[in-house]
Amino acid sequence: LRHFLTVEGLGRDWLERIMDTAESFESVAVQKVKKVPLLRGKTVVNLFFETSTRTRTTFELAAKRLSADVLNINVAVSATAKGESLLDTIRNLEAMGVDMFVVRHAESGAAHFIARHVAPHVSVINAGDGRHAHPTQAMLDMFTIRRHKRDFSRLTVAIVGDILHSRVARSQIHALNTLGAREVRVVAPRTLLPVAVERLGVRVCHDLDAGLEDADVVIMLRLQKERMQGALLPSEREFFRCFGLTAARLRRARPDCLVMHPGPINRGVEIASEVADCSRSVILEQVGHGIAIRMAVMALTLGAVQG
Ligand code: CP
Repeated sequence: LRHFLTVEGLGRDWLERIMDTAESFESVAVQKVKKVPLLRGKTVVNLFFETSTRTRTTFELAAKRLSADVLNINVAVSATAKGESLLDTIRNLEAMGVDMFVVRHAESGAAHFIARHVAPHVSVINAGDGRHAHPTQAMLDMFTIRRHKRDFSRLTVAIVGDILHSRVARSQIHALNTLGAREVRVVAPRTLLPVAVERLGVRVCHDLDAGLEDADVVIMLRLQKERMQGALLPSEREFFRCFGLTAARLRRARPDCLVMHPGPINRGVEIASEVADCSRSVILEQVGHGIAIRMAVMALTLGAVQG
């Protein structure tokens, strides 16, 4: 596993190996044990062309807990702002002796493009590309589900909201199907679903109450306005009325249903505060698991632990 660009096409054994490796890093991730020297002498560059709070920060913490040196490139004040191409930026950073690029970009395929051009010893991790994929987010979500539910084959998972623009949803659907989830449902208005979404291996619901029925896990998604043209932007009030998760609606799901969200959450748009902060919400636990999962992906791709 030299690069980690997508979960699509990775087998169940790989997804389980990533989660098992993350499990072995948990005590370091939560700082019960201080750093481990697995990536000492390695240099990781966080190259984020889009905003991020959770992903960028947990990649930085993960790299530091593995003893790597970390550079955070502020794209807004880098030479990219003077017209330097993506490839020239990569080549210049490579000349400084970089071992790994963690890349977030608004264009689908950007991380794949970089991976095709880096030197043979350099690894690339996709931290979110356009609408395409966000594989480490999907893995930390699977890790969180496994912690609570163990057996994926018994699970009905409802993914609710803006599926059309969501790289997270695509990666989650692939991961859940690979791990053998009983049913993956997508719940959204027709305008926020990709064409032929059924081909991804999901059941489609256009009604939230029906979509929540007996769900073991509900994953809420925000409206990704940054990827919408103005004309397609639904009214937030109307969206919440039809697709917002409230405590009353959550009663349709199983009593032990997990409430998840990759963040950032928009309270009162896709999720009510009473649900985001309730005892069934594992939203902040997801964020914490991002450190162990990203440690695992970095260590596996750089060959510091056995793949
Ligand atoms: N879930 C997620 O990708 O959050 P950030 O945009 O804050 O990284």
